[in-house]
Amino acid sequence: MKVLKSQNGNIALLLKEVGEVNDTVLKANDVDASFEKHVPQFDIFEDKAEVFVSHVMEEEHYIEWIMVDYGKEQIIRHFQPGDDPRMVVDYQEGMKAYSYCNKHSLWMSEG
Ligand SMILES: [Fe+2]
Repeated sequence: MKVLKSQNGNIALLLKEVGEVNDTVLKANDVDASFEKHVPQFDIFEDKAEVFVSHVMEEEHYIEWIMVDYGKEQIIRHFQPGDDPRMVVDYQEGMKAYSYCNKHSLWMSEG
């Protein structure tokens, strides 16, 4: 899954790649910021996973969304300042989770 950022700040998921990509492809875990405060964490219980990020949710600095990526399916939840950045989803071994901080870009971990 590629996450793109255009020059004007638009963020997009690349759902199908058929040619040259002109926007910046964001690289996960590539910003010099606290890994622990940005990377999605997993609490796994039976067939469910609670995916969350231990990050502040202030007006100027917050997690905008978390995306769970099963490969053939993605689930995205959007957040606002003051929200609790977490979601409960089905657990699959090898699933990935991405988080996006409005100041520190894209982060990823594997369940
Ligand atoms: Fe941040």
